[in-house]
Amino acid sequence: MKCRDTTKPYLRSDNIFRFYVNDVQVPWATKFEGYLPPDYTAKSVEGKPWADPPNPKECAFNKNDGGINRISFHGPYTCDEEGRPLNPMGRTGLRGRGTLGRWGPNHAADAIVSKMAGGQLQFVAIERHDTGELAIPGGMIDKGESASAAVIREFIEEALGGTTIEKLTLLWKNGHEIYKGYVDDPRNTDNAWMETTCVNFHDTSGLLDDVQLKAGDDAKTARWTTASKELKLYASHAQLVSLFAKAYGIEL
Ligand code: BGC
Repeated sequence: MKCRDTTKPYLRSDNIFRFYVNDVQVPWATKFEGYLPPDYTAKSVEGKPWADPPNPKECAFNKNDGGINRISFHGPYTCDEEGRPLNPMGRTGLRGRGTLGRWGPNHAADAIVSKMAGGQLQFVAIERHDTGELAIPGGMIDKGESASAAVIREFIEEALGGTTIEKLTLLWKNGHEIYKGYVDDPRNTDNAWMETTCVNFHDTSGLLDDVQLKAGDDAKTARWTTASKELKLYASHAQLVSLFAKAYGIEL
């Protein structure tokens, strides 16, 4: 849905508009004559160490490609005649990678660190520098890194000011996976898309009681926030938070 918005230009581009795709035209299996989406990869991606080469034929898709996880949580994906992976959810009205570094799945990891306080379910939220929105701490998984290491690293960078706190090892040992799969992200294209692994670490023994949250890296502020329906969150984080709240018997 978010990557089919034709009312405004693609993120940080001046004049790249998506080709209009209606609900019926989304599946690749549906014939769509005259489908001519623009081909756009942002200049900011070119030559970056975290990005793929322009030619997708240099990538080994559907496998671990020298430490880069090119496996989708949704099973094997196919490639078009130019060797570009096809988004498993269907057409988005834009070819290329947009602002995403990788062809195919771009894997992220998100951490929901939570506790009960005064009878309320709380989690650590950050305010993002880029959009100013409230979000759960998270980011892209590095080459050679596991999703479980990335969630913890991202939390430490964004909510603990980069400081490793020894006693939290106990908390990191008890992660529960909340979600893994495709994310409805505005950056997604026909050939590049976001997938995330969201892990919840619930503090039942007061390990975080005397820990001062400290924003760092992509985060402007970090604070305990009560899980509620009213929260407006970045990307699909509201869905992740509602899945997490459900695990504690709370319907948001
Ligand atoms: C963000 C994650 C988010 C993912 C998908 C990443 O850039 O850091 O928090 O879940 O994109 O939207």
